[in-house]
This record gives sequence, C-alpha cells and structure tokens, in this order.
Amino acid sequence: MVKLSTQTAFSTKNYLKENLLEYHKSLPYYAPENSKLANLLKKKALKESIPIISDDVFCFLSQLVLLKNPMRILEIGTGGCYSTLALLEYFTGDDLISLDVSDNAIMDAHDLKETHDIFKKVQFVFCNAIDYLHEYQNSSFDLIFVDARKKHYKDFLKLSVPLLKRGGTILFDNLYFSGHVCRTAQYNPLFENKVTILKEFNKLFLDEKNLTASIYPFGDGLGIGVKK
Ligand SMILES: C[S@@+](CC[C@H](N)C(=O)[O-])C[C@H]1O[C@@H](n2cnc3c(N)ncnc32)[C@H](O)[C@@H]1O
Repeated sequence: MVKLSTQTAFSTKNYLKENLLEYHKSLPYYAPENSKLANLLKKKALKESIPIISDDVFCFLSQLVLLKNPMRILEIGTGGCYSTLALLEYFTGDDLISLDVSDNAIMDAHDLKETHDIFKKVQFVFCNAIDYLHEYQNSSFDLIFVDARKKHYKDFLKLSVPLLKRGGTILFDNLYFSGHVCRTAQYNPLFENKVTILKEFNKLFLDEKNLTASIYPFGDGLGIGVKK
C-alpha cells in the first residue's frame, strides 16, 4: 500500500484541536438498544476502577458489527464486559469468544451471563490470550477486538492476523495511551516503558503486510486493520 505522507494525511483540517476534542467527548454516545445495561456496566467499572472502552468506541464496535455482520468474533480482554456488550448489540453470528487472564473478570462475566440473556451467546474463557492463540492456530475469525496488556500487543498481532479471514477486521484499543505517546505536559517518566512499547507497536501495526491498517484519533486511539 502506498503510504501517505504525514503532510497529506493529517494537515487538512487540524481537527484534533483540544476544544473540538472536548466537544466530541461531550456528545451523548451510548448503545441505543442496551443503554440501561451499558450504563450499569459502566458505573460498576468506574466504581471498581476497571478501565473500559470509551463511549465513541462502544458505538463504533456496535456499528461495525451491524455493518460487517461477523459470524465469529474473538475478544481479547473481557474486563468489565462493556466492550463485549458493544460487540453483542447487533451480533447475529454463531460464536463470540471472550478471553481474560483474570479469574475475577471471568467470574463476573459468568454472573452476567446468568442474569442477562444478551450474554448467553458468549463463551468466556479464563486464559492467557497468548496461549489461546498458540493453541487455536486453526481457528478463524471475522472480527478480533484487542483491549488487554499493551506489552503483549505485538504478540497478539503476530498470532491473530493469521486467524483473520480475508476482509476480516482486527482492532486494537488505547494506541494513544491517553495522549502520553506524545509525551505531553502531563507526561510521567513512569510511563516511558509503556510509551516506548506502544510507539513501536503502532509502527509495526501500520507496516503489517497482511493488513491495510490505520490508527484513528477517536476514543484513546483505535487501530483498525483489515486483512488483505
Ligand atoms: C482494559 S480491560 C478490558 C476492558 C474491556 N474491553 C471493556 O471495555 O469492558 C483489560 C483486560 O485484559 C485482561 N488481560 C490482560 N492481559 C491479558 C492476556 N494476556 N490474556 C487475556 N487477558 C488479558 C486483563 O485481565 C483485563 O481484564
């Protein structure tokens, strides 16, 4: 793929201006069908300090499922099941497998499955996603959503791309690490390791030869790659 120069790609509108970003964040994004449950999960995550996807990413995930109608979805990082709910919103497919290395996250997810029918379709698996991806190299997915340990993003990429069908989509959340990739005024030297990891990953992701990939400046920087 021909790489656009930075000039061509991002100079047109300067649309990342801070006040416009604030406005963007203030818009009432939430899932139309399950807003009550979405709000409940969001409140719980906030109370327990579990990081979840942003509201615009929530909307985007549900829109993408409606648009692409994936039959098999893999989610890496169940966490508070907020993104799982977004993926389920318009899901008509057969399998949604959601992995988490935390037994608490998986136990909570099973509780949700007991009480909310929308989660019935999901197979929640307690495992390290790296092991899972190694073990299931013969599986295939239409959509893979990754929101887990950033240190492992490189491995998730390498091991997940072969599992994607042609035209399938892979998404990586938090590629801007709350803006710290720019080492802004709020930058803390403690972030250095994570920043280095993410900056390396972002280049690797855009260079992945089996994908047409880009990083979009919404949410916390969402990487979207489509398998060629
Ligand atoms: C930010 S949370 C996910 C939030 C979720 N996407 C949401 O919006 O509700 C990240 C989760 O990834 C899990 N995780 C981190 N590394 C992992 C790995 N190697 N395999 C599986 N899960 C992992 C963590 O235990 C944590 O629950």
